Amino acid sequence: MKFQFSNDQKGLIIGGSSEIAQAVGHGLNQLFPELELHSVSRNKDKNVKFKAKKYYFDYFSEIEWDNYSSLIGNSKFDFVLSFVGALNTEGQSPEKNLRSLEFENLVKTLEINLKPMFLGMKSLERKLNRQELTLVSAISAKVGSITDNQLGGWYSYRISKAALNMFLKTLSSEFKFKNPKCIINAIHPGTTKTVFTRDYLKTIKHTVHEPEETAKNLIEVWQSLEVENSGEFRNWDGTILPW
Ligand SMILES: NC(=O)c1ccc[n+]([C@@H]2O[C@H](COP(=O)([O-])OP(=O)(O)OC[C@H]3O[C@@H](n4cnc5c(N)ncnc54)[C@H](OP(=O)(O)O)[C@@H]3O)[C@@H](O)[C@H]2O)c1
Repeated sequence: MKFQFSNDQKGLIIGGSSEIAQAVGHGLNQLFPELELHSVSRNKDKNVKFKAKKYYFDYFSEIEWDNYSSLIGNSKFDFVLSFVGALNTEGQSPEKNLRSLEFENLVKTLEINLKPMFLGMKSLERKLNRQELTLVSAISAKVGSITDNQLGGWYSYRISKAALNMFLKTLSSEFKFKNPKCIINAIHPGTTKTVFTRDYLKTIKHTVHEPEETAKNLIEVWQSLEVENSGEFRNWDGTILPW
């Protein structure tokens, strides 16, 4: 049986202000107008425009996650999708070589790309619906694939997404026993025209998608997943990526 979004579900979007998250939120609003969405985001300044119950807190803090978890009561989530990510710390470009790699930036970038998903899952583990098929997915990046790393560079981002991937893979092993109806997935969204890629668009030679196309692709892949696919890393077109 494949995972399907539906009107009677409740889902959480972490990093609701991400441009890809906004497109996915809109897409889900349009396809399933009754679906209950929660969006968590760091600050109100960046508008979250899709229809959702909007929560603003520091999702890098475990206490804040626990506050959110108590605030929302006991109703269960059918899916959790995280869009949080950054190429590097503010003001820093992705590293071209070892010389430009600063360990402090690496740690900070790792924190941005991994911590919200890790804390969110730790806090909400018991709030996943165990009666039905559920989905937990984080937007990773192909450059986080260790096997696929042909070009090098972008140390902090690659290391951070590889760590996120390992977290998801490890969680999928734990959930095989604990929560066997939950599909854990890492997904590469495909290069997408957002603030994230703004500085690199001119140099990109492959296809660049609009956020709406990416949302459509992601929703399609998520809805093709079965429980046997838990612990996989997928590309935007549905193909499997090597870890
Ligand atoms: N665009 C692409 O081509 C592409 C390709 C591969 C992978 N990805 C991944 O896709 C995800 C979404 O990216 P996007 O293109 O939608 O980019 P975006 O608009 O820049 O979204 C970035 C998200 O990360 C959150 N965030 C938390 N801490 C941050 C920090 N210190 N700096 C920047 N952002 C921070 C933002 O959160 P708030 O909601 O709290 O503001 C926002 O939700 C990311 O995980 C990215 O790694 C994107």
